[in-house]
Amino acid sequence: ARHLLGIEPLAPDEITTLLDLAQTYAEDNRAGRTHRDVLADMTQINMYFENSTRTQASFELAGKKLGADVMSIAMQSSSVKKGETLIDTALTLNAMHPDLLVVRHPSSGAVDLLAQKVNAAVLNAGDGRHEHPTQALLDALTIRRAKGRIHRLSVAICGDIAHSRVARSNIMLLGKMENRVRLIGPPTLMPAGIAEFGVEVFDNMEKGLEGVDVVMMLRLQKERMDGGFIPSEREYFHRYGLDRDKLARAKPDAIVMHPGPMNRGVEIDGTIADDINRSVIQTQVEMGVAVRMAAMDLLAQNLRAARAQTAVAAG
Ligand code: CP
Repeated sequence: ARHLLGIEPLAPDEITTLLDLAQTYAEDNRAGRTHRDVLADMTQINMYFENSTRTQASFELAGKKLGADVMSIAMQSSSVKKGETLIDTALTLNAMHPDLLVVRHPSSGAVDLLAQKVNAAVLNAGDGRHEHPTQALLDALTIRRAKGRIHRLSVAICGDIAHSRVARSNIMLLGKMENRVRLIGPPTLMPAGIAEFGVEVFDNMEKGLEGVDVVMMLRLQKERMDGGFIPSEREYFHRYGLDRDKLARAKPDAIVMHPGPMNRGVEIDGTIADDINRSVIQTQVEMGVAVRMAAMDLLAQNLRAARAQTAVAAG
């Protein structure tokens, strides 16, 4: 593929190829082995139109570990503030001939639109409620390392499903790899028609968590609630926050995940988040670097192959 815009178009074997390469990078990162030749001929531009800590830092680090020239634009202080459109910004940067563009945007579909206007390979770093493909891939790698496989597992995704691009990308990836996915949350935060994606839906944590292998918690995304119903945090934690009693319903060796940023005492008890016997939250962050290295490596290989073909065709 030319871009990484979402999990939706990926085939299971493409996911496995990327995870296998990311696994190699994860081991090499731990051992301090570097690969600065992989993107040595590439320029990577990172554009964040919405806040980020994990994704932004790990894409930047991934590019540097692979030897790319990396530039991050603080969109809050760019000419977007003077009224420049997304497309004009994209065309301006395109004229500087970047090879890889990493983009986060608050609007669903904005990254796909941008990808149609530029020559670079585009990586979606999260667009609105739509997709966050590298998050789902790093989650899959984390699960595979903890459970030894990424198929035939029972995975509960809990909380604000309606506003979550992380949930959407994970539902697609886990479904493609033949896992059982349960969605647990208040009916007001469950998207209409979601059962069509082959998932089971629960509004009760105790029932939904029964016997699952993986518990994935999500943040309440108040910034996307558009003045709609916002639950009280106390009531929400009581009914849907992950505490010891609720976690006891899952398998005894079930792992706990959270994509971050985390609101302790709202969707998760802080002691569970910090419990190194159950929580793999820090491993998720670590795998984020490896997965982003793998994604950029594979897209760069495709880019070089396409350019070589164009050169041959041009004679
Ligand atoms: N998980 C995630 O996307 O975190 P950031 O918003 O900090 O990048």
